[in-house]
Amino acid sequence: MAKAKAVFICQSCGANSPKWIGKCPSCNEWNTYVEEIVTPQPKEVSRASTKNSQPQLLEQVELSEQNRLVTHDNELNRVLGGGIVPGSLVLIGGEPGIGKSTLMLQLALSLSGKKILYVSGEESEQQIRMRAGRVDMKNASCYVLTETTLQVIFKHLENIEPDILIIDSIQTLYSTLIESAPGSVSQIRGCAGELLRYAKEENVPVFLIGHITKDGVIAGPKVLEHMVDTVLQFEGDRHHVYRLLRSSKNRFGSTSELGIYEMHGNGLKEVTDPGEILISQRNAELSGIAIACNLEGMRTMLIETQALVSSAVYGTPQRSATGFDIRRLNMLLAVLEKRCGFRLGAKDVFLNITGGIRVEDPAIDLAVTCAILSSNSDLAIPPQTCFAGEVGLSGEIRPVSRIEQRIKEAEKLGFKKFFYPSFNESSINKKSFSNIELAAVAKIEDVFQLLFG
Ligand code: TYD
Ligand code: MG
Repeated sequence: MAKAKAVFICQSCGANSPKWIGKCPSCNEWNTYVEEIVTPQPKEVSRASTKNSQPQLLEQVELSEQNRLVTHDNELNRVLGGGIVPGSLVLIGGEPGIGKSTLMLQLALSLSGKKILYVSGEESEQQIRMRAGRVDMKNASCYVLTETTLQVIFKHLENIEPDILIIDSIQTLYSTLIESAPGSVSQIRGCAGELLRYAKEENVPVFLIGHITKDGVIAGPKVLEHMVDTVLQFEGDRHHVYRLLRSSKNRFGSTSELGIYEMHGNGLKEVTDPGEILISQRNAELSGIAIACNLEGMRTMLIETQALVSSAVYGTPQRSATGFDIRRLNMLLAVLEKRCGFRLGAKDVFLNITGGIRVEDPAIDLAVTCAILSSNSDLAIPPQTCFAGEVGLSGEIRPVSRIEQRIKEAEKLGFKKFFYPSFNESSINKKSFSNIELAAVAKIEDVFQLLFG
């Protein structure tokens, strides 16, 4: 074995230095350097290679697209781009307690007939068994293994030869060839590298569960995300039932798809028709509430936005937003102040997107602004009204994508009035919407006029 030496490695980006430094020159993070022992390029690997690679003509490469393993979980299939690709390495990140282990265990148990190995470094076999009882599913060929040493795991893999391997979690794995502690950059990088080789050579899909740091990024080196084929984020608010599965990288599909689940006492359930799940006050005439017709992934969802505007008690007004970017809220308030003459500078503004989910579609802007205006003037927006539109810096309502799909969904759910950007007017066939009144708006002042006159 080559001589081991100690280096300091940034736990955030993986850069290294022979000496300890306070601020990483590569990613500018503070106090992230930790001493690790690295053995330069270990000669041995935990598993001998089984294949000799040969150059092939691209046209003669056999397509394995049809071999995608379509699971019983349609939300997961959707996010993965149509099922599990053989030999793919998928990383799933999420906050502690959000349900990553539950999602993976349910996947393992739903694929009856497939041999699954669920390796856990965090829970005992009994705990996993208890969880399986809780979600009330059975798979006679699902093996569990509580082990953290990579070499031992590979030995078991040779005997079991599973169809799918699940590792819970990558941060607990330990390779004896690397001298640093589990969870350190060298260990994560080394173990993920060997699992990647296993996945590609044996053509077995491997799922890695990854912890995230307090900033919401997957703990460990950035190279981990480069190595894997797909990065999924499992997010949501632990106090709410909804959980979203997004992909931030996918070599085999689109990253714009979204999976939606509900966490119940007996596990995660798919939400197939998310249309109005997030609307609570459907018929109440309350000020400060506006409903946005949003597109999350390829599906439309109606989302309730709530605002509370009140006189500031302290000199500096407070702004707080849940589920919405606070900087964007400040921008919208500045637009209202400048373009429409609303004097919000001396007001506290609180904004809440119900359901505890984080939205990404900018079409929610119009509903957010209307909720603020409604609360500011204490006038309720008629309950059967919904909005879609992005607000620009000069108060103009900017176009949104797939407008017809949004209107169709709102009409289906019984909405009577739909505010949309006039830019989108030409792409709408108005004849096809007879049960909903369409109101095109070009500027934020127009919306205010139409709503509160
Ligand atoms: P878990 O999968 O352990 O989260 P992670 O692996 O991401 O840390 O999920 C734990 C949470 O999910 C826990 O707070 C309890 C909740 N839960 C349910 O509400 N219902 C269930 O059926 C299960 C299995 C868990
Ligand atoms: Mg877990």
